[in-house]
Amino acid sequence: MRSDDFKQGSLFISDNGASKGVSRVLLTEQQINARVQELGQTLTRDYSNREVIFLAVLKGALYFLTDLIRNVDLPLTVGVTSIERSLVDGEYNISSTIRDHSMIKGKHVVIVEDIVDTGHTIAALIKSVEEQDPTSIKVCTLLDKVSKREVEVPVDYLGFEIPPLFVVGYGLDYEEYYRNLPFIGVIEDANWDPVSELRARSQKSNS
Ligand code: IMP
Ligand code: MG
Repeated sequence: MRSDDFKQGSLFISDNGASKGVSRVLLTEQQINARVQELGQTLTRDYSNREVIFLAVLKGALYFLTDLIRNVDLPLTVGVTSIERSLVDGEYNISSTIRDHSMIKGKHVVIVEDIVDTGHTIAALIKSVEEQDPTSIKVCTLLDKVSKREVEVPVDYLGFEIPPLFVVGYGLDYEEYYRNLPFIGVIEDANWDPVSELRARSQKSNS
């Protein structure tokens, strides 16, 4: 489904996947591709003659990463990291597992994210990357919901600042669906909240 199909007034309501449909397009594939190209050019300039590793946060950022690095005209390496969200004594806790961490020491690290919302994820990630002794750490995110921020985090390279909406596509998911949309779409009243989701899950497993 391309974003043009929305302009013709259709709604994409999935009846066998995610429980909610996409109601409108926020960013078209053309807008995304143009911006990703610009970001790639900026990174090419900023990281020339540097040992750089692009570190993507699974799974959402993979889509952005692969398009981004094809616009970076430099020798570079790629790594991935996964995030685990849990409740520790009722407190929201985020930890990250970095694979290939031997590749980070002494390198310039560009953390690649799909979206920064409250900032907790990036904050946790920066902390664990710091432990690997890199030369520098910068954050590159496609989207930023600045108005939702709870902890201060650096955003060094930004695709688009967006309003506090729940968005999907280009890697971003709702109930694991919609990652394959080539554009960014909006899900109205998604009611997505990782903390209450974890609470509900732990209540279920305790009962
Ligand atoms: P933060 O820790 O609140 O900054 O959340 C960042 C993470 O929440 C992202 O890596 C996404 O996985 C998820 N997230 C936040 N907002 C959205 C959204 O609008 N759509 C899909 N996922 C989101
Ligand atoms: Mg993510």
